[in-house]
Amino acid sequence: MTTWAEKYRPIYFEDIRGQEEAVAKVIDFIKNFPSPRETPSGLKKRAIILYGSAGTGKTSLANAAAKETNSEIFELNASDLRNKPQLKETLKPAIEQRSLLKKGKILLIDEMDGIAGEDRGGIQELVELIELSEYPIIMTANDAWTKKLSPLRKKCEIIQLKDLDYKIVKDVLIKILRKEKKFIDNKILTEIALKTKGDLRAAINDAQTISKLSSEEQIKTLFDERNKEENILDVLKKIFKLKASNETLRTFDQVDMKTDEIILWVEKNIPLEYRDKKLAKAYELLSETDIFNGRIYKQQYWRFLVYENIFLSYGIASLNKENKTNFTKYKRPTRVLKIWMNNLKIAKKKTIAEKYAKHSHISIKKAMKEFPIIKLLINSNPRR
Ligand SMILES: Nc1ncnc2c1ncn2[C@@H]1O[C@H](COP(=O)(O)OP(=O)(O)O)[C@@H](O)[C@H]1O
Ligand SMILES: [Mg+2]
Repeated sequence: MTTWAEKYRPIYFEDIRGQEEAVAKVIDFIKNFPSPRETPSGLKKRAIILYGSAGTGKTSLANAAAKETNSEIFELNASDLRNKPQLKETLKPAIEQRSLLKKGKILLIDEMDGIAGEDRGGIQELVELIELSEYPIIMTANDAWTKKLSPLRKKCEIIQLKDLDYKIVKDVLIKILRKEKKFIDNKILTEIALKTKGDLRAAINDAQTISKLSSEEQIKTLFDERNKEENILDVLKKIFKLKASNETLRTFDQVDMKTDEIILWVEKNIPLEYRDKKLAKAYELLSETDIFNGRIYKQQYWRFLVYENIFLSYGIASLNKENKTNFTKYKRPTRVLKIWMNNLKIAKKKTIAEKYAKHSHISIKKAMKEFPIIKLLINSNPRR
């Protein structure tokens, strides 16, 4: 199954919505791109940093630039920047002109936020290679203003992609739904567009999921899950980025999520935030929490819930020597997706059980218990 977001990825500049200024700047940049022989080094910018929130069109814009100039695209992974000699080995041949090939080339280093703070060597090397490049280099990042990118900034034109206006998001969704011959209620479309806050990829994904859902209950569940996700991301930011304080102890109050699930989120994202000794320490705290969690359930010592919370919040935050301002794109643990899907299934079950209960004058609870029979009934009726 291809996702709609992939299927409807913009190909040409004109397909990229709501980013006219950024598109114009990219066109300008490529038009005036100087050969290193023409200009003494440092006079003109030889690389771009496209920055903006997720799902605003950065990767699409870089690819469209290649398409529009009939250039091939050479993509470098941000993790290639970790290793200085390796970076040189990969990038050096790519930035040198091969006169036999007339086709242009654009080098893309996508998601620069992926490089951790310590990988300075790679960045320094990249700065030097930019000077020598015969081809435009396009980098993308959520945040162009972090410290770790500062050596690059001087060498790059920095172009911002805006968070997309909800009206544009809604318009894109309507066009896709029309092509897919699917229908979503106008109110729900507005809600998707508002909730995803300018992240068009998220909006398209939500629309695709919702187009498959049948009941209001399921749709509501999906929105609840998205709210929960927003809250937990905010919580992660607090415990991973801020110095521990009394406030820290209350961090988890703002999210309505079971500790087991919180642990999954913390576990998935610890390696994105800490390294070496701190990484080990963070995992240690996590396993303490997990052990505690097990004990609490086994022995029903609910009082211990407080301690568990302390390990997870204060414990981890105490690894932060100072408030950090860098940006980290946190990931969703895979098991959480399964929990989501499961919640959706339960919601669906509940709507069916509700109808059945009403029809046969029994309680919803009873109908839920009798669900295997209901399922049998539904499946044996070809007209459903
Ligand atoms: N400005 C935009 N115009 C049209 N579609 C967009 C735009 N931004 C994002 N999308 C949709 O979202 C998907 C992801 O976009 P992408 O360019 O990968 O975003 P980013 O790199 O900023 O996270 C695309 O495949 C497309 O479907
Ligand atoms: Mg991208």
